[in-house]
Amino acid sequence: MHLRSLSLDNFRCYERARFELPPGLNVILGPNASGKTTLLEAIYLLATTTSPRTSTAGAMIRHGSTSARVTGVFERDGHEVTIRVTLGDPSGGRSSAKTIEVDGREVAGAREIIGRVQAVLFWVGELQVVKGSPGDRRRFLNAAIGQMSARYLDDLARYRRALRQRNEVLRALARGGSDGRLLAPWTHALVEAGGPITVDRAGLVEALAAEAAPLHSRLGAGAEELVVRYAPSVPLDADADVADAFYTRLEATHRREVERGSTQVGPHRDDIQLTIDGVDVRRFGSQGQQRTAALALKLAQARIAGARTATEPILLLDDCLSELDADRGAAMLDLSADREQMIVTSACCPGHLGQRLADAHVIDTTGHAAALGGCDGDAG
Ligand SMILES: Nc1ncnc2c1ncn2[C@@H]1O[C@H](COP(=O)(O)OP(=O)(O)O)[C@@H](O)[C@H]1O
Ligand SMILES: [Mg+2]
Repeated sequence: MHLRSLSLDNFRCYERARFELPPGLNVILGPNASGKTTLLEAIYLLATTTSPRTSTAGAMIRHGSTSARVTGVFERDGHEVTIRVTLGDPSGGRSSAKTIEVDGREVAGAREIIGRVQAVLFWVGELQVVKGSPGDRRRFLNAAIGQMSARYLDDLARYRRALRQRNEVLRALARGGSDGRLLAPWTHALVEAGGPITVDRAGLVEALAAEAAPLHSRLGAGAEELVVRYAPSVPLDADADVADAFYTRLEATHRREVERGSTQVGPHRDDIQLTIDGVDVRRFGSQGQQRTAALALKLAQARIAGARTATEPILLLDDCLSELDADRGAAMLDLSADREQMIVTSACCPGHLGQRLADAHVIDTTGHAAALGGCDGDAG
């Protein structure tokens, strides 16, 4: 699948702009603050209905405007699909409003886009997968699986609701003001939604582990071995039912959960372990090792998404070239050879990547900034 055209109206620094994109490698070139990341953000917004940079729709509306609009025409197996996201309200109403249309028909949310359009983005925030907290890694898992499975999104919503309600009862119990029997239905709901979440995550991490290790070597890490392992809060045992294991763990921690007024085990406590040659990348990895590991995970995610959904994701890579040395940068661009479309940003045109970039389609954000009254900041 690939993006054919992208139109922006009052989206961040773009007043009005339209880009045509061929399949294959596209390079967005321009100086700092010229709107490169903004273009990837817009594409990601179309593919997922969310921004990687902000959870506030209003932040993406161009200063001084009341609404913004992003429209993308995607092509998959000869079929066209148009997705449009409108942020804010042209008549000056709520700036937090967000409307999503697929082929001109308004849809309720991200579920409607699953299986139609897919993008995988690597940007600086992605380093949190490696460097950040267990919560950052769970967010990665949720985004990765949620993009492939509407059922997972439903399970996640049901799990969160059950967890909230269950914790409320636990807090009441901790104060001595409730009946223990009130817990049972929420325990049941928690296990019912949480079991499949654990199984889905185990499956994804296993696939990630297999894909990421060779990608990691191709990105120049050479002999260093990246090992990705799921660290579930509820242990998964091939012989035992995940629901049984979950109930057992809940029983074992019941005293503590009443004491603390919160559920102590379950997918909300999961993590992923990342090691390079046996050493924890999060705590001991160098900056470069962390970056390469995060990039390998992201590229692995894209492959898995493509294989599982028959919708090959568009690969969006923000600011990767400048920080990789010549060999790694070339290796990364070579990965585009087996992708339908890859869109990368760069502040300079690294000479050592010569032919690879010469063959790419270039989108120059400098030109657009000038022609369109420009982005603020230090562009130009
Ligand atoms: N809501 C907004 N309205 C207008 N300009 C914005 C808005 N949000 C961000 N910008 C500006 O957009 C510019 C481009 O940002 P960005 O896409 O991150 O640039 P690049 O990736 O090329 O460095 C920045 O100068 C920033 O100040
Ligand atoms: Mg940028």
